[in-house]
Amino acid sequence: MKYRFALEYEIDTPLAIAVAVYLDAEHYVFLHKKYSDTYEVLWHDLAARKIFIRETWSLLGFRLGQTCMTEYIPPAELRNYDIKPHPWWIPSIHHVMQTTTRLVYTEIPERNSTLSTLEMELDMPFWLYPFRRWIRKAIERLKIEKDQQDIDMIERRARLFGRENNSIYLADHQFILHKQDYLRHFGPNSKRLTPAD
Ligand SMILES: [Fe+2]
Repeated sequence: MKYRFALEYEIDTPLAIAVAVYLDAEHYVFLHKKYSDTYEVLWHDLAARKIFIRETWSLLGFRLGQTCMTEYIPPAELRNYDIKPHPWWIPSIHHVMQTTTRLVYTEIPERNSTLSTLEMELDMPFWLYPFRRWIRKAIERLKIEKDQQDIDMIERRARLFGRENNSIYLADHQFILHKQDYLRHFGPNSKRLTPAD
């Protein structure tokens, strides 16, 4: 049985920064280490902008995790699907429920900020369906909590480098997913870290 819902709110940062933060895989294992502290690319097809990843965390001395297909549709759409527990035998809701997420960022020009729209589709067995609102609440709480961590990071960086400065995400040593595609759509930026600035 399919259950769909959407979660929408404004993030007070320009679109180019919101997308860069999402693609910045380096921050995941530091800033969001409470949820998972490893992030590995297992397979990719860069032409199709698909990356198959594994995230893991530790629980009571065991290392648990999940694998997931991620897809970037430039300029600002991000999809996740085929989420599976890893290793396969661990008890997980993903054994019985298929989760598909579509996150779309759109520019709010009046405030130079970003509208974040997360659309979720949960395909679950009938016996899980009565708990759908509870599952939805748990997903929403997690998403808002992680976004708040991102917003704190965005504000810290904005104070140091400027609100529109995406060059920190584009430095040679910085690993961001789909860097070339991102650059093609958003450019290397407005403000660079040069003495002239
Ligand atoms: Fe984040």
